[in-house]
Amino acid sequence: DHGSENGWPKHTACNSGGLEVVYQSCDPLQDFGLSIDQCSKQIQSNLNIRFGIILRQDIRKLFLDITLMAKGSSILNYSYPLCEEDQPKFSFCGRRKGEQIYYAGPVNNPGLDVPQGEYQLLLELYNENRATVACANATVTSSEF
Ligand SMILES: *[C@@H]1O[C@H](CO)[C@@H](O)[C@H](O)[C@H]1NC(C)=O
Ligand SMILES: *[C@@H]1O[C@H](CO)[C@@H](O)[C@H](O)[C@H]1NC(C)=O
Repeated sequence: DHGSENGWPKHTACNSGGLEVVYQSCDPLQDFGLSIDQCSKQIQSNLNIRFGIILRQDIRKLFLDITLMAKGSSILNYSYPLCEEDQPKFSFCGRRKGEQIYYAGPVNNPGLDVPQGEYQLLLELYNENRATVACANATVTSSEF
């Protein structure tokens, strides 16, 4: 069973400091591991994350699309190149299909305060051919302690 019927299990990427991030793979073919260090609703810049996945695609180039929604309305769409041929930003850039990658390190995010509420986040990683490398939807809950 590869989970496409009932969906992959929900995982908690972090839960502390008034912020909870729960995610689920939305790639019907595989699940993956993600955790965020120093979780807090005052998100620090340059967060450290840990991310592990088996590549089903080459990632000569790699892009991240983020969509953020709250209460059914769209708040933000963001697209960010992680690997480009002339300027790879991460050690895993250029890895090939079938390889397992494990990344532990900073993500170069800006700091921000997350207003109290519940948010839906969709994260999609894809390569130069627009093939999905990883996909996750997440629920982010910012609450009082
Ligand atoms: C991901 O999306 C599905 C389908 O919309 C939803 O049922 C599920 O609760 C979401 N998972 C998370 C962790 O937000
Ligand atoms: C984000 O993209 C979706 C789909 O293309 C669009 O409907 C939405 O208005 C966009 N949101 C923002 C904040 O630009």
